[in-house]
Amino acid sequence: MDIQLLTDYERTRLSERQPLPEAFLRLPESELEVRIAAARAALGDRVVILGHHYQRDEVIKFADCTGDSLRLAQYASRQEAAETIVFCGVHFMAESADVLSGDRQQVILPDLAAGCSMADMAAIDQLETCWEEMASVGVTGVIPVTYINSSAAIKGFCGEHGGIVCTSTNAAKVLAWAWARGRTVLMLPDQHLGRNTAYKMGVPLDEMVLWDPDAPLGGLEPTSLQHARLVLWKGHCSVHTRFSVRQIEQFRAAHPDGKVIAHPECTFDVVQAADESGSTDYIIRTVTGSPEGSVWAVATEIHLVNRLARELAPARTVMTLDSLGCLCSTMVRVSPNHLLWVLEGLIDGEVRNRTVVPEPTRTWARVALDRMLALA
Ligand code: 13P
Ligand code: SF4
Repeated sequence: MDIQLLTDYERTRLSERQPLPEAFLRLPESELEVRIAAARAALGDRVVILGHHYQRDEVIKFADCTGDSLRLAQYASRQEAAETIVFCGVHFMAESADVLSGDRQQVILPDLAAGCSMADMAAIDQLETCWEEMASVGVTGVIPVTYINSSAAIKGFCGEHGGIVCTSTNAAKVLAWAWARGRTVLMLPDQHLGRNTAYKMGVPLDEMVLWDPDAPLGGLEPTSLQHARLVLWKGHCSVHTRFSVRQIEQFRAAHPDGKVIAHPECTFDVVQAADESGSTDYIIRTVTGSPEGSVWAVATEIHLVNRLARELAPARTVMTLDSLGCLCSTMVRVSPNHLLWVLEGLIDGEVRNRTVVPEPTRTWARVALDRMLALA
């Protein structure tokens, strides 16, 4: 990896990363299991472990709370007793937990290399440039809305400029909040969540424009920017954009009674062609609550799909929409070995791979997150 090509956000994260020691690398599964359980028991109430639905089975089985980004953020904000939150997820989730937790609490991300390629697509200097360039053509009073999949610096900007955070669960509620406060909304970094949600709310596609952070004035004409109600940042999830309409057609040909459910980070065409779309929690609830005999193709990360398939068989058939399976290569970095290493570190009085959001970013990011939690 060429460190020069990284954004400040990625560079800071990786420079603070403590690598897994050799002694923790090749441990048998059975030993990992026994030692994690023992460390967990020894730490008792001092620690809570949070796990996102995309985590591997060997990790998520140790979580005290599992959920989508919203549920995990809510849980982190309510933790008062535990002195340490071990976040089995990705960096933006650990940062949000740090912002939402109390001053005496600390948050650990077992591997600080567990980032999110989408969050890395919006750097704070690009957002500041976007803001100034929009103002230069008379587009002011914009309400910035950031998907939780973004750095704390982006969240801080939104907090400071009258904006808010959203997740895939509450994006429509948050966009309605934003439009009640301003004619134009800037939504970042995921163009697909923004487009899919706004379209579902009745906003026509011709009232949305796509801002390219690498082009002057986002690659837009001043007039189209002035007329837009929604400015979408040109960012995406490299996992979810792999699903295609062709895969949906192939699934429907093979399973005429089957249904397709997609995460809203999928492209507009895929979400339109699917039967249902929603957050990871929504996907789990919908598929689990479907009638016996149902057949589902799920367009989201492979660990969640495989877990659902196993848990719901044989009453329901669940498969991934992409036969090659879409893996989030950063979520998977949190291994049971990392979990063991950070837990045993706490027993030895050592805090490994802590995530700390510095001031004043912390205060402003909290403003944006609190606005969301008040709505959720
Ligand atoms: P959820 O909030 O739906 O769990 O999504 C998080 C995520 O990163 C999806 O890619
Ligand atoms: Fe980021 Fe996509 Fe992975 Fe979610 S699935 S954490 S959006 S890269």
